[in-house]
Amino acid sequence: METQKSPAGSSPLNGNMHTRIFLIGFMGSGKSTLGHQLARKLGFQHVDMDRLIEETAGMTIPGIFREYGETVFRKWEKDILIELCKREKVVISTGGGAPCHSDLIGIMNQNGTTIYIELSPEVLRTRLVHSKTERPLIKGKSEPELLAFITGKLKEREPFYRKAKYTIDGTSMNAADLVTLLNE
Ligand code: S3P
Repeated sequence: METQKSPAGSSPLNGNMHTRIFLIGFMGSGKSTLGHQLARKLGFQHVDMDRLIEETAGMTIPGIFREYGETVFRKWEKDILIELCKREKVVISTGGGAPCHSDLIGIMNQNGTTIYIELSPEVLRTRLVHSKTERPLIKGKSEPELLAFITGKLKEREPFYRKAKYTIDGTSMNAADLVTLLNE
């Protein structure tokens, strides 16, 4: 059976309404992995905001928190996001706290399509326990402390995450399903 191909250079998205796609959600929700896969499917560029901040600053995220503190990190997060709003055909994996300050969720909604990857605190805890990425906000926490932290922080952040145009189930949604959703 022949598979249908899009014409060369075109995207599998109908029309061009989704030229900037923001993936948002808690630490460990899979924004980077899904963002990378989605960008490949769409023929878009993929940008991981945390990696871009690290490249721009010439320091790791834990290093930035240590040297300058969270307030400076949040300011840089805002500056980078505003810069990214000038790019076209891009999937942006944001940091877990990005949508929750300085009305960055409002900026994302004005400039693109936002997708919240939703997961329960228990699933997030399991993923974060097994993650190799060093995250300053959860460093050194025991498993029970981690669950309590995630539960509290998620409650605080959910009103921002819920402003996303789409909410998807992080346990079952893959990049192909996401392309289908974006075409509906
Ligand atoms: C943060 C999440 C991290 C990173 C920083 C702060 C947060 O990104 O931006 O450590 O406030 O939730 P990930 O969501 O990619 O872990």
